[in-house]
Amino acid sequence: MALAQTQTRLQVRPLNPALGAEVRGVDMSKPMDPATFKELHDAWMQYLVIVFPEQHVTDEQHVAFTRNFGEPEIFHQSIIKSKRVREIFRVSNVDDEGKLMPPDHPTVRQLSAAQYWHTDSSYRTIPCTGALLHGVEVSRTGGETEFTNMYLVYEALPEKLKRQVEGRKARHDFDYLSVYTGQTLKPMTPEERAAVPPVWQPMVRIHPVTERKSLYISPIYNDEVEGMSPEAGKRFIAELAEFAGQPQFVYRHRWETDDVLMWDNRCTMHQVTAFDPRERRVMHRTTVVGDAPVIAA
Ligand SMILES: [Fe+2]
Repeated sequence: MALAQTQTRLQVRPLNPALGAEVRGVDMSKPMDPATFKELHDAWMQYLVIVFPEQHVTDEQHVAFTRNFGEPEIFHQSIIKSKRVREIFRVSNVDDEGKLMPPDHPTVRQLSAAQYWHTDSSYRTIPCTGALLHGVEVSRTGGETEFTNMYLVYEALPEKLKRQVEGRKARHDFDYLSVYTGQTLKPMTPEERAAVPPVWQPMVRIHPVTERKSLYISPIYNDEVEGMSPEAGKRFIAELAEFAGQPQFVYRHRWETDDVLMWDNRCTMHQVTAFDPRERRVMHRTTVVGDAPVIAA
């Protein structure tokens, strides 16, 4: 007779008081059974950023693993997207043919926007749930990724700021990237532009799983705030981003080759630290299609 048993499949090691945990016991190259998935998903909801060390996965395996969490997004621009596996978003200064691109290459310039706080694909009508980033070739001179816990940020907001964000919306426009970064980027084609019109998202959202409130901003895309002049809106976003970036809310990850990081874009922001552009940095990302943000009542 089989005995009922409680089995812990995963080893979960918290990395920081604010967020982040390392998880061992998952082989991303293999299918995952429902019980392991549940345990992993619970850990993800608790720690927001999961680090899977030593995952030597192909792009196809990476995409297949992503499908456990939902449909992968397909990036709306021809650049950055992998030519080989279209669900892969290439965070890379090395092109598809393996050649290092110069820092002034339009793709490298566009990716440099990730050096500022943001949450991925917030400019989509339905922003993503999360993202999984595989460190294929990691830099040694920087290129660390910082994550901030936007639940804690929301809870710690001074009352005045909390009142100002409550019930308010901010506009997210992909095309604002070039203004924010001061970089000349590759212009979008009419089709690419039509795929990502500016959208208004709640500044406070309720997480559909945890039901916790978090601040939801994405400064590289936020060009306007409801009820404010464009200039005042930008100042407001900058003030919130500065508050969110305080060390007590942040985990900084130093990459090892074949780390895969999975983060929840609904309740975190991230940014990458500067790195030597002469060094190769190849990171492959998948992104999970999300649900419409729930506006806090
Ligand atoms: Fe990002």
